[in-house]
Amino acid sequence: MITGNDIRREFLQYFAKNGHEVVDSSPLVPRNDPTLMFTNAGMVQFKNLFTGNETRDYTRAATSQKCVRAGGKHNDLENVGYTARHHTFFEMMGNFSFGDYFKDQAIELAWNLITKEYGIDEKRLLVTVYSEDEEAAGLWRRIAGLSDDRIIRISTSDNFWSMGPTGPCGPCSEIFYDHGDHIWGGPPGSPEEDGDRFVEIWNLVFMQFEQLDEQTRINLPKPSIDTGMGLERITAVMQGKHDNYDIDLLRTIIEASADVTSTDPDGDLAVSHRVIADHLRSSAFLIADGVLPSNEGRGYVLRRIMRRAMRHVHKLGTKDPALFKLVPTLTSMMGAAFPELTRAEALITETLKLEEKRFGQTLDRGMRLLEEETSRLSEQGTLNGEVAFKLYDTYGFPLDLTQDVLRGQGRTVDTDGFNSAMQRQKEAARAAWSGSGDTATEQVWFGLQDRLGATEFLGYDTETAEGQVLAILKDGNEVQEAAAGDEVAVVVNQTPFYGESGGQQGDRGIMFSAEGTELAVADTQKKLGALFVHSGTVNKGTLKVGQALEMRVNTERRGALRAHHSATHLLHEALRRRLGTHVTQKGSLVAQERLRFDISQPTPLSAEDVAVVEAEVNERIRANDEVITRLMTPDEAIAEGAMALFGEKYGEEVRVVSMGGKDLETGSGYYSTELCGGTHVRRTGDIGFFKVVSEAALASGVRRVEAVTGQAALAYVSEQSGQLAAAANAAKTSPAELESRVAALVEERKRLEKELADARRKLAASGGAGASSEPAVKDISGVPLAARVLSGVLPKDLKPTADEMKKQLGSAVIVLIADTDGKASIVVAVTEDLKERFSAVDLVRAGSAALGGKGGGGRPDMAQAGGPDASKANDAIAAIEALLQG
Ligand code: ALA
Repeated sequence: MITGNDIRREFLQYFAKNGHEVVDSSPLVPRNDPTLMFTNAGMVQFKNLFTGNETRDYTRAATSQKCVRAGGKHNDLENVGYTARHHTFFEMMGNFSFGDYFKDQAIELAWNLITKEYGIDEKRLLVTVYSEDEEAAGLWRRIAGLSDDRIIRISTSDNFWSMGPTGPCGPCSEIFYDHGDHIWGGPPGSPEEDGDRFVEIWNLVFMQFEQLDEQTRINLPKPSIDTGMGLERITAVMQGKHDNYDIDLLRTIIEASADVTSTDPDGDLAVSHRVIADHLRSSAFLIADGVLPSNEGRGYVLRRIMRRAMRHVHKLGTKDPALFKLVPTLTSMMGAAFPELTRAEALITETLKLEEKRFGQTLDRGMRLLEEETSRLSEQGTLNGEVAFKLYDTYGFPLDLTQDVLRGQGRTVDTDGFNSAMQRQKEAARAAWSGSGDTATEQVWFGLQDRLGATEFLGYDTETAEGQVLAILKDGNEVQEAAAGDEVAVVVNQTPFYGESGGQQGDRGIMFSAEGTELAVADTQKKLGALFVHSGTVNKGTLKVGQALEMRVNTERRGALRAHHSATHLLHEALRRRLGTHVTQKGSLVAQERLRFDISQPTPLSAEDVAVVEAEVNERIRANDEVITRLMTPDEAIAEGAMALFGEKYGEEVRVVSMGGKDLETGSGYYSTELCGGTHVRRTGDIGFFKVVSEAALASGVRRVEAVTGQAALAYVSEQSGQLAAAANAAKTSPAELESRVAALVEERKRLEKELADARRKLAASGGAGASSEPAVKDISGVPLAARVLSGVLPKDLKPTADEMKKQLGSAVIVLIADTDGKASIVVAVTEDLKERFSAVDLVRAGSAALGGKGGGGRPDMAQAGGPDASKANDAIAAIEALLQG
């Protein structure tokens, strides 16, 4: 059987053979369009090539693009599992011409691939064309030899494809496959077209226009081609299946799911396995591209998908985490085509397991509540919105999960009720809000915001501006004026001072009036998202409400903040390129002296990773390209081609910052493109120089990178090289030879230490220096006793010394006491011949007691103990002598 992987490979090889550049799938989080939730078509990464805003060194391309349709306008989530062809994750294979070939060649290439290379029976194929597109109809007749009854003209938007309200668009022509008359349905355009018999397999879009706004449609610089063929659909056709979930790419996961849950893959539980297989794919690919579960935006869509899958695992009767066990099946199936999946395998596994554990704690209880509630409903009843909200709020049930449970029972949820419960909770939270820190002051911001509205921020374009004082706070209370020496918080109508947000610290600077009032601003904070609050001290004069102030940001500090902020964007991109697209920002700090950047990354960065990333960032800095900022309202951003802004908390305007120069790897044409409200350098060269200073673990799966730029980087490097020179000097060598010199010194030290220890042992054993003046061996009632008090001998050397002495003396009781800073260690050894009569353990205990210690242990021939008072060494020897005398 031909596999899904074979079909993908053949597709790409076929187009490569026909002069197309095979381009990697772009990440699921679009890079060139930060307002688009997920990549949902193959052409997304090429958008600017169609409009002519960007050119590359190829004009023909082919991809197999990862796509997710969930959470935005194109949302297939709720149908997954219940139909033959809905997926949240799928692959769209496509070939593209950017002003190169057009309709005739696109049709020829497509027809040859499916009929000759893939060998699909021509008789089962029919096509649609846009009703006004006689040219396309003629080409299908001529190239494919299709008779007129198999070329269906469609006048609706079904055959005019556009990516959004604006953007590239054009008429399209779709190829349909007839699965046979055993399946209900009619050809496109017929009353039965919604049936499953005729399935669209390939959409060829003849890109000809660009929609600028509702009224204006212009011609593209050159007619182009964009096509999309769902890998899962064509695989179904070629594997003789009607249902996409029966193809190898999905069936393998379904079987693995049946296996880990010990259930039947088919039958009553088939829906659950299908949901699990689909959702596992979208979850894993999203995590590999840097999305982690959270309560907003993309992260919440991921969480919804994961929890929906978990509910189905639960339904299959499995209470323990199970999804993560399916990851190896997925990576072995798709890891070769998408290496990012294999690279992120550990992160995917950990993320799934953690979410399964977390949700597992409330899933069971939530399901019981839901069962209780639904048992009271009529057959087709509607679940109360309040209950759905409680499930959401208390048990972490996303609304669509609850809907999915009820759908299985033919019931629905009162979504209006759910939404109004949500709304009420928000209002209650706002009413009860007391902020953090100084509650009284924080409460004041609400009043000010209501009365004064948002502060206008001018600081992107200027660092000095005039503004008018609207409010002054002293000790948390609003005042009309403040005198020299007062600590105040000031709100003005407009300001060039950046209020701390997005990790970038707030500006400092100075404000003064024509009358001579001077205010030193130590910090600027943004309250409630829009109110800029400058806090500082009145240096001179009187600050008054209504006064006009000239406001000057500390430009040197801001310059360093800009440089550090822009450097975080370059660093982010460089890290993704080096480590993989699972790397996303988990937090950051942009300060004057340094930057801190936290990323999702399971393993430490190697020294080589750091060096490569550092070199790449510096290369982009030296290229000194312009930093491009585009400002749009969210609506404009959507009109630019965004499909959705689901749940993202954007303000009135969306800022899109691009930098790092032209780059072929990203769809935006820039090295880095991010949504960002911070302030940036004009050109990357302004960053000067970039240096990583540390890399460490922050939390599980999160690493923290710290770095410096410009002046701070220079200071860091010269301090380091100063330290190196001083160290080399101390080691009497050059910096270049320091490493080998230090290694040699360490070796030498080890050798000397060993020699010294040996010498000490020998010396002690032979009663040389360090031994007491006692005669070497005394006779105690016929027992030879060698007892010594040693200083300058380490406790650990006592036993080897005693061994040495045993050998020398042949027959004796040996007592060695080491005096280490007043504390005693004692070893007693008994030679073999005397072992029957005297136990070293008994003897050492007597000695230890005399030294103020307790206990001691060892074997009959060698025992050791300690004692706090080495000055009692002679008492210890005497105590042992007494025992020997019997
Ligand atoms: N862009 C076209 C589609 O998504 C090919 O159907």
